[in-house]
Amino acid sequence: MAIDRVLSGMRPTGNLHLGHYNGVLKNWIRLQHEQECLFFVADWHALTTHYDTPEIIEESVWEMVIDWLAAGVDPASATIFIQSRVPEHAELHTLLSMITPLSWLERVPTYKDQQEKLSSKDLSTYGFLGYPLLQSADILIYKANQVPVGEDQIPHIEFTREIARRFNHIYGKEKGFEEKAEAAIKKLGSKRSALYEELRMAYQTSGDEEALESARALIEEQQGMSMGDKERLLGYLEGGGKIILVEPEYKLTPASKMPGLDGQKMSKSYNNTISLRENVDSVAKKIKSMPTDPARVRRTDPGDPAKCPVWQLHEIYSNDATQAWVQAGCRSASIGCIECKTPVIESVLAELKPIQERAAQYAEDPTLVKNIVAEGCEKARKLARETMRDVRDAMGLNYS
Ligand code: TRP
Ligand code: SF4
Repeated sequence: MAIDRVLSGMRPTGNLHLGHYNGVLKNWIRLQHEQECLFFVADWHALTTHYDTPEIIEESVWEMVIDWLAAGVDPASATIFIQSRVPEHAELHTLLSMITPLSWLERVPTYKDQQEKLSSKDLSTYGFLGYPLLQSADILIYKANQVPVGEDQIPHIEFTREIARRFNHIYGKEKGFEEKAEAAIKKLGSKRSALYEELRMAYQTSGDEEALESARALIEEQQGMSMGDKERLLGYLEGGGKIILVEPEYKLTPASKMPGLDGQKMSKSYNNTISLRENVDSVAKKIKSMPTDPARVRRTDPGDPAKCPVWQLHEIYSNDATQAWVQAGCRSASIGCIECKTPVIESVLAELKPIQERAAQYAEDPTLVKNIVAEGCEKARKLARETMRDVRDAMGLNYS
C-alpha cells in the first residue's frame, strides 16, 4: 500500500564527522518532521566490507546512535533500529535471492568500483556481491516508498525497483485473481465501482496517468476494505496481479557542500575530517594547520581566497561582513592567515558544542540509548513481520 514512508540506513564503520552532519543528518532531521521515518544502523552491510574487523563495527554501533541522537534525530518522531535485530531482513534477502539473476548483481556499478577502490580487501565474496539485494530487502520489508540516499546509491534503488517488479510479477498472480478483483470492485459500492471501472479503462486503453492517480486515491480512501482487497484493486488497475512489494523511489540527499581540511570533500578516506566528538583543542589545532593559499609565503604577501580551503569554510560558516573582511584582508595582506582562521574555529566550535553536550548526556546513560533502540527495533519488527507474512504466503511457504 502506498503510504509515505521514509527509510534510510548508515553503515557503522567509524566516527561521524561534520560532513555527515551537514549532509545526511540534517536531511534526516528535516524529514522526520514531515513524514514517517525509519533510520537504521546497517551493521550487516558493514560486515560485507569489514568482515575481518568486526571490532570496528561493534564499537561504532552505539557511538553512531549517540551521534544521531546528539545531532537531533528524535526518537519521538523517527524509528531508530539496528538491522541485525530485525532478522526478517535476512529472511527476505534469502527469499529474494531465489529470483535474483546473477547478472543483475554483477552489473551494479558499486560492485566493481568498490572492489577496485578497496583493493587491499578481498571482496570477491558472496556477501559483497549480494549486498545490493540485502539493501533491497531492507527497503522492501517496510514497503518504504522514499529512500534518501547519496548519488552513489541510486543504482541500488533502481535495482530494488526491478526486484520488486519481478517479485510481484512472479508471485502476484494468486489463483482466481481476476475473480477476486472483480468481487472487490463490487465491495466499493455501485457509484464508486462504476468510477473505478471507468478510470481503469481510461488508464488501460489510453495510458491516462491522471486516471490512474485518481483511481489509486479512490482505493486508498475506501473505508473498511481489507488490505488484501486494496492490493488486488491496485494491481488490477495496471492489469497485473497483486502488488505485494512496493517499488521505492530515491530522494537524492542534497550534496553536502562541506569541504574537508584540505579543500576536498570531507571524508574519512581523505583523512581531512573534524569528527562530531572532536575536542576543542583538536578542532583549533586542525584548523590552524590547514593549508592556505601557497602565494602567502610571508605575512606581507597578498593572497586569493579562491585558492584557499579556509575560504570554503568561511563560505559555510561566516556572515557577509566576515566574508568581506576575509576577501579584503587576504588580498591586501592586511590580515594574517591565523587571524583569518579564528572566526572559523569559533563557528565550528559553536556548532559542535550543543551536539557534544547532548552526546555526553547520552553517553552517560547507556540504558536510555539501549531503550530507545530496543523500542525502535520492536516497532520495525512489527512492520517487517507483516510484510513477511504476505511474502511467505505469496511464495507458498505458509504451510498449515
Ligand atoms: N548502502 C548504504 C550506504 O552504504 C546504506 C544502506 C543499507 C541503506 N541499506 C539501506 C541506505 C537502505 C538506504 C536504504 O550508504
Ligand atoms: Fe586563506 Fe584567509 Fe590566509 Fe587568505 S588570509 S590565504 S583566505 S587563510
